[in-house]
Amino acid sequence: MAKKLFIKTYGCQMNVYDSARMADVLAPLGYAPADSADGADMVILNTCHIREKASEKVFTELGRLKATKRARQADGANMIIAVAGCVAQAEGAEILRRAPHVDVVLGPQTYHRLPEMVARAFRAGSRRGNGGRGAGVLDTEFPAESKFDHLPETASPQGITAFLTVQEGCDKFCTFCVVPYTRGAEASRSVEDVTAEARRLVGAGAREITLLGQNVNAYHGSAPRIGISASGSAPAEWGLGRLIRHLADIVGLQRIRYTTSHPRDMDDELIEAHGEVPALMPYIHLPVQSGSNRVLAAMNRQHTADDYRRIVDRLRRVRGDLALSSDFIVGHPGESDPDFDATMRLVEDIGFAQAYSFKYSPRPGTPAAAMSGQISESIKSERLDRLQTLLRAQQDRFNRACLGRILPVLFVRAGRHHGQLVGRSPYLQPVQVTAAQALVGTVAEVEIRSTQSNSLTGCLAIDRRQTVMCCGLDADAVELRGARA
Ligand code: SAH
Ligand code: SF4
Ligand code: F3S
Repeated sequence: MAKKLFIKTYGCQMNVYDSARMADVLAPLGYAPADSADGADMVILNTCHIREKASEKVFTELGRLKATKRARQADGANMIIAVAGCVAQAEGAEILRRAPHVDVVLGPQTYHRLPEMVARAFRAGSRRGNGGRGAGVLDTEFPAESKFDHLPETASPQGITAFLTVQEGCDKFCTFCVVPYTRGAEASRSVEDVTAEARRLVGAGAREITLLGQNVNAYHGSAPRIGISASGSAPAEWGLGRLIRHLADIVGLQRIRYTTSHPRDMDDELIEAHGEVPALMPYIHLPVQSGSNRVLAAMNRQHTADDYRRIVDRLRRVRGDLALSSDFIVGHPGESDPDFDATMRLVEDIGFAQAYSFKYSPRPGTPAAAMSGQISESIKSERLDRLQTLLRAQQDRFNRACLGRILPVLFVRAGRHHGQLVGRSPYLQPVQVTAAQALVGTVAEVEIRSTQSNSLTGCLAIDRRQTVMCCGLDADAVELRGARA
């Protein structure tokens, strides 16, 4: 009988991708995905260290799992508990000290070695018996080999929309951020490796691929071998723009996205790709963090607020319907009222379709945590409130402006109600439409009929007549004519 594997994922999309790959690595050992920790033979917490709250959640969850593990052991079974991801990398042995029932602690760069770690956990478990103590296996190296060269080739199908990690790590060292320490130095996968995985994903049904990286537009993967010059000199590297053009040729791949990008790495080739590659969606997550040059300098972001404005102008010139999302930090050490006002001005100037905003959270070991001028909780809360009110109003305005528009929607799954499908607009808004199940995996024109704060509702715009009628039609009566291959 298959062993049950429950993976709980925290943090960013790269962790979502990593969790899927960990399941791939464990599949040959007989582990099949399960929906909960109850009755699981192995539980992996794939953790995030970005803010204090994210980190602390892990220890709360480990507290709960202790009881589950004990109960299973009382029944004569066992449950291996593994902590993976960025908290594992940052805290390492400290996790085993605080939570001795943990069996395995592994970093984001070592999960290709999971089978070996599980075997060690089993050996230790049989030596120790069922005392509730974990095996204490620790592997948080940054190994010389790349995990991507050691992962199983056939990734499990991810569905209509899929993630593909093309770049990892970060060398930018923003003063507030743990990522360069938890994920290590910046590295890109080769174009061939990425293309092969993209083809496999499309072969397994993916129609939209989001290219992932902590700094995805710093991508510089080695070029395909056909690119080697006659003299046999080392292959050139491709940037993200060129990679996207290349991937856009894959038959069946209808949409390409990428996240997360850094303003400094928005090069000409990538900006031009936005104007020239129809599969590249007109929606970019481009974190700015602050609108104050003083704060941006203290953050070591290596760009000014006007640099950001210029990049957005250039993007909008090549792609008029481009929309933006962003990340903001309020209350970075030294942020004054005028600094915060500059952030509000930048938001007013750009107009975001969506955004994430956070109170600055001091992270141990990062330069900003040791800076003078730490901001009080109450000021951070007050600023976050003002910023979020403005961003929410912009998001509502953006969604309302979609009313009456005809948008191409990629249908991803059945909706909650019979005959309803859920799709995604080019701007990642969920769109509910009454339509035939057969449309899942295709893109169709949808007329937007109503907007909610986080989603849209529409009708297939097959033709004028049906646009008027389709809301009242039986789903199966709506034909496939609106679908684009
Ligand atoms: N690579 C991306 C960000 C990855 S982290 C970039 O360069 O922008 C995701 C977001 O978490 C960041 O954009 C930032 O807004 C937020 N974040 C990172 N460290 C933080 C901290 N110490 N406190 C609060 N928010 C933080
Ligand atoms: Fe963190 Fe800055 Fe690197 Fe983004 S660019 S991951 S915020 S250090
Ligand atoms: Fe969190 Fe690590 Fe991603 S700290 S945001 S899981 S890179």
